[in-house]
Amino acid sequence: MSHHFIESLKWRYATKSFDTDKKVSAEDIASLKESINLTATSFGLQPFRVMVIDDPALKTKLRAASWDQPQLEESSHVFVFASKLDMTAEYIDDYVRRTAAIRGLPYEALSGYGDFMKNSIADKDPEFIQGWNRRQAYIALGTLMAAAAELRIDACPMEGFDPAQYDELLGLKEKGLTAAVIAPVGYRSAEDPTQHAAKVRLPLEEMFL
Ligand SMILES: Cc1cc2nc3c(=O)[nH]c(=O)nc-3n(C[C@H](O)[C@H](O)[C@H](O)COP(=O)(O)O)c2cc1C
Repeated sequence: MSHHFIESLKWRYATKSFDTDKKVSAEDIASLKESINLTATSFGLQPFRVMVIDDPALKTKLRAASWDQPQLEESSHVFVFASKLDMTAEYIDDYVRRTAAIRGLPYEALSGYGDFMKNSIADKDPEFIQGWNRRQAYIALGTLMAAAAELRIDACPMEGFDPAQYDELLGLKEKGLTAAVIAPVGYRSAEDPTQHAAKVRLPLEEMFL
């Protein structure tokens, strides 16, 4: 299993050019979505939401807001990770209630944990909270990349876009969200030379202290 997983990680690369004739199946998109939803997050709060976009007209607009990077139009679907702009007591309470319902516990049994979470963020400024929320979205990006590789679906993690334009195009601000990071997915173009480039990574002795 672990060997196979390393093979998957070696197979994947940040895809620069996708085959425009190939679409990721609905079943595989469902698996990728589930991988994101199963991602670990701090306290389990999942402080981000994800849009999965395959509308060609919208993808063209996103390309213009992404340094004209072709992956936006050529890929099958674009995953947009949008992190929350805040973290409120109400949001934490919803989470505590969901936990109680799913685990068949009374709310009161978990309210202490809820208070602990609320206290831990009480003295944090909005900048910290937004950075914290954004980091959780990046963990999910990592899960998506790994899950896609296992399914032999190509992807390109991307920060090369204008979040303000994304927020506008996708109506994210009204939802209390901002675009954090994106990942077009699909199938590599046979013509993408990047797939043949050797991976550039630190020697393990340098990475591990
Ligand atoms: C957070 C993040 C943002 C990135 N942004 C872009 C991007 O905007 N455009 C792009 O072509 N590649 C982007 N990359 C891809 C990286 O350049 C690539 O992952 C890195 O060079 C390692 O190569 P590999 O993923 O092919 O192994 C990004 C990667 C990450 C993790």
